[in-house]
Amino acid sequence: MLYPREVIEEVRLRNDIVEVIREYVPLKKQGSSYFGLCPFHNENTPSFSVNPEKQLFYCFGCGAAGNVIGFIMKIEGIDFVEALKKLADRAGYKLPEAEYTKEEAEKVKLREELYEIHKQAGLFFYKALHSSEGNRALEYVNKRKISLSIQKKFGLGYAPNSKAALYEYLKNKGFSEKAMLESGLIMADKYKHGFHDRFYNRLMFPIFDVRGRCIAFGGRIMEKGEPKYLNSPETMIFSKKRNLYGLNFAKTAKKKEIIIVEGYMDLITIFQAGFKNVAASLGTAFNHEHAMLLKKFVSDVILVFDSDQAGENAALRAIPILVDGGFRVRVMQVPDGKDPDEFIKSKGSLEFGKLLVDAVSYMTFQINCAKKKYNMADEEQKILFTREAAKLISSIHSPIEREVYIKQISKETGISDTAVIQEISDTDKKRDRNFYYESKRKKIQNFSSNISVKNSISNSSGVIQAQKNIIFLCCDNTDLYFKIKKFLKADDFPDSDYSHLMEYASSFIESGKNIIPADAVSIFDTDEKQQKAAAVFSANVDYSSSEELSKALTEEIRLIKRSKLDCLASSATTIEQLQKIIKAKKEIEDIDIKL
Ligand code: GTP
Ligand code: MN
Repeated sequence: MLYPREVIEEVRLRNDIVEVIREYVPLKKQGSSYFGLCPFHNENTPSFSVNPEKQLFYCFGCGAAGNVIGFIMKIEGIDFVEALKKLADRAGYKLPEAEYTKEEAEKVKLREELYEIHKQAGLFFYKALHSSEGNRALEYVNKRKISLSIQKKFGLGYAPNSKAALYEYLKNKGFSEKAMLESGLIMADKYKHGFHDRFYNRLMFPIFDVRGRCIAFGGRIMEKGEPKYLNSPETMIFSKKRNLYGLNFAKTAKKKEIIIVEGYMDLITIFQAGFKNVAASLGTAFNHEHAMLLKKFVSDVILVFDSDQAGENAALRAIPILVDGGFRVRVMQVPDGKDPDEFIKSKGSLEFGKLLVDAVSYMTFQINCAKKKYNMADEEQKILFTREAAKLISSIHSPIEREVYIKQISKETGISDTAVIQEISDTDKKRDRNFYYESKRKKIQNFSSNISVKNSISNSSGVIQAQKNIIFLCCDNTDLYFKIKKFLKADDFPDSDYSHLMEYASSFIESGKNIIPADAVSIFDTDEKQQKAAAVFSANVDYSSSEELSKALTEEIRLIKRSKLDCLASSATTIEQLQKIIKAKKEIEDIDIKL
């Protein structure tokens, strides 16, 4: 950590979670907690709760959870240190100079070196494209009608056709071998002691992060060959899941909507055609993190995917993610099996603009996709289609919107409005019932704690629940901690995050200090892990009798230990290790908690 624990706690203390969240979300008091509409997913009834006592927030709908620092990270899309600074500012508190441990200092240095390597590599590729060795590549770029100014804007380049040209260049610039390898642009030779470049003889597309720093490359082969596009691997500074190509330019367009496409060339052509609010998901499926990233800049999304089956499936998968994220979503399909790049090049940007205007709502798109699966001349199939459409429409909350689609369906099928409405209301009821049973099932599971789980792996829901329950109970009631500590240690937790949390809890309890859940959460600095920790404390584990609790604890401890031993067994390499594990497994049966 960059800042000592006390500083983080001080900042957290000076920012009451209810007051801070109120600046973003209207909250209403209900019992001891506050409730509001969750800002992290789309909902009509409040399931987002803020607990002033625990200083934690928790959404029963989407599972978002954390303390005040985590809330700011999530809603502003910034990292831990940035959120800490923001909250310190808000409270008029001056943060001390950051202190790095040796390890962190090295990490920070490596990151900086990686950014610099990418910058230099970008320049190197750019120069190569405009030198004689890049002639053929430049011809290719021209053939694809990318203007000079767009080439420059996107920093297109060429990776020369030689084994280690970039390596030599970077080495001469004084970059460390470690950083070059970490960048993924340079690779170690398999059999000899040497190095080679990842990319050669490819047209290079620098990939920028939202702030405009080059963090990776994509390279296109210019003849036929595989793979058509080769990308940098995931690195310390590049995650495909968390970046969208072109977003650094799109955000400056300051439009309320953004066009999402699948590939590099489509994006560049659309941009060149004058639509600058465009980003691409780079061959990976559009995911929740992409949606969160967009949330800061736009409210509307137009999905423009290829008109083939793969493109349609990609759109169908992206829709629920975006709708849940609260975006207004429309879909545009390019006709004649073309992709956007081919379409613009043959029909022009004006025609493309018309298609954009005519983009249909996601609901119409989903209904159309459903319709394709059925033969509407057949009565039986028509009914099945109407059922599927009713199910889709039932996900809409607004009665006005519902009506629009109900009319549409009834017109298309000849089935009356009232029948379609009835079908939708049945679906509504079924969903409510399912929701009820599901939450009941979860409660029971929480309660009786998986006595039947035998063959566990560390991430099965039972083991996860058991680890959460034990940590929660130990923090909630330190007497319990002292009763179970001789059977279970932090080391026994198969999940390293829960293990870390248990270790933190133990050290607090052992030294007689109170655990403050909101501080426990910030021993982690990523959003994901904080959420995991906050969920532990937001639980409500209550066992009605001490006998029941003893039984549940015994089972949970056994489950946790068994799972950890299974993990160890799968990575054991010697007979001695295995024998030790078998012995430890036998001892598990002797565990018996009596309260
Ligand atoms: P052009 O053929 O140059 O017009 O590219 P395209 O964008 O039309 O390609 P395509 O529709 O085949 O693929 C869409 C996107 O998927 C590309 O822009 C890439 O981001 C990604 N992609 C395509 N082929 C590959 C591949 O072989 N490897 C990887 N990693 N990504 C690919
Ligand atoms: Mn194409």
